[in-house]
Amino acid sequence: MSRTFQAIKVSDRVYWVGAIDWELRNFHGYLTSRGTTYNAYLILADEITLIDSVKAPMFDQMMSRIASLVAPSEIRNIISNHAEMDHSGCLPRLLQMIKPERVIASAQGEKALQQHFHWDQKVQVVKDNESMVLGNASLRFIETRMLHWPDSMFTYLEGDNLLFSNDAFGMHLAGTERFTDQIDQTILRYEAAKYYANILLPFSNLIAKVPGKLASADLKIDIIAPDHGPIWRRNPQQIVQWYIDWAAQKPSAKALVVYDTMWQSTARMAQAIVDGLSRDAIKVTLMPLGAFHRSDVATELLDAGALLIGSPTINGQLYPSVAEVVSYIKGLQPRNKIGAVFGSYGWNGLAISHLENHLKEMGVELVEEALRVRYVPDQQALAECRAFGSRIGEKLLASSRGDS
Ligand code: FEO
Repeated sequence: MSRTFQAIKVSDRVYWVGAIDWELRNFHGYLTSRGTTYNAYLILADEITLIDSVKAPMFDQMMSRIASLVAPSEIRNIISNHAEMDHSGCLPRLLQMIKPERVIASAQGEKALQQHFHWDQKVQVVKDNESMVLGNASLRFIETRMLHWPDSMFTYLEGDNLLFSNDAFGMHLAGTERFTDQIDQTILRYEAAKYYANILLPFSNLIAKVPGKLASADLKIDIIAPDHGPIWRRNPQQIVQWYIDWAAQKPSAKALVVYDTMWQSTARMAQAIVDGLSRDAIKVTLMPLGAFHRSDVATELLDAGALLIGSPTINGQLYPSVAEVVSYIKGLQPRNKIGAVFGSYGWNGLAISHLENHLKEMGVELVEEALRVRYVPDQQALAECRAFGSRIGEKLLASSRGDS
């Protein structure tokens, strides 16, 4: 067994034995510009226990890190907090190699693992708030359904006060730094927000209950060890507070204007609208879809109070890049936004009606009639675009203040 890669100490009894994926740029449709990590953790208790594992191609890297500490065959238990393949892909190969005494998962996890691997492996099912003793260490399991799949759970290590939080509180960020206190705070907040916006936003109602659930389980948490990105060993409450804020989806005085353009007419409309929106109290972000990825749009949308989308009409439909973004962000179920739509068209302008319907289905409150311009906007049309932006700016300020 190679020992090229080293385990990293996290607490008295816990070591990081995961893998760094510097190359990853697409995580189910999300642009992971900075790569990611798949974090697995080894608890060196009387019963040596592995928490989660890694994506199948990263098997050797994980095994090498484990072998830098103990012979892998000494692992007695494997806990699968979540069956998604980035954490379980190498499980069949791992089980064949080390033959642990127990594989442990939630009830939904046991089913999901079976449905992935179609195996004969017996999985011990644990319930919410159940404890398990590993000789000189004790674990507790906290069910966290839909964070990020129905099977998801946290595992808590008593004494080390360490929460293995699986997908929650993580980010896609490759690097040699294993801890958040080693990383620039701006990058940390941006990547944590991007991860929340693109993966966890649809589950915000459930996520809002997690801090209360941890409090009622009476867990003292000194370290949060997620399965992606760096570990929170200093002030883990910071990421919990960010999650509380993001889950609330309170509208801010920020307008996001998204568009694509065929012959620059919708682009000129967008720029005039942005000019109308702009004032000291409002942050405006303009995202032409020729330059921005859908997952960057989702990130900017997380704290926006207003969403404006523009599209030309092509064959009676949305422009393809706009259709893609609308489909993507609709699935993320953003809440508490006002909005409006606009676009240039040649003869039927149906894209704009489609856009209105999409925004209504998303629950966006349309605060202006759709703005349509035939072919190319003239000076008067651009002045109307500017006024349209200005009126929406006033409504955004009112909604972000909480005025009815
Ligand atoms: Fe990191 Fe839902 O998997």
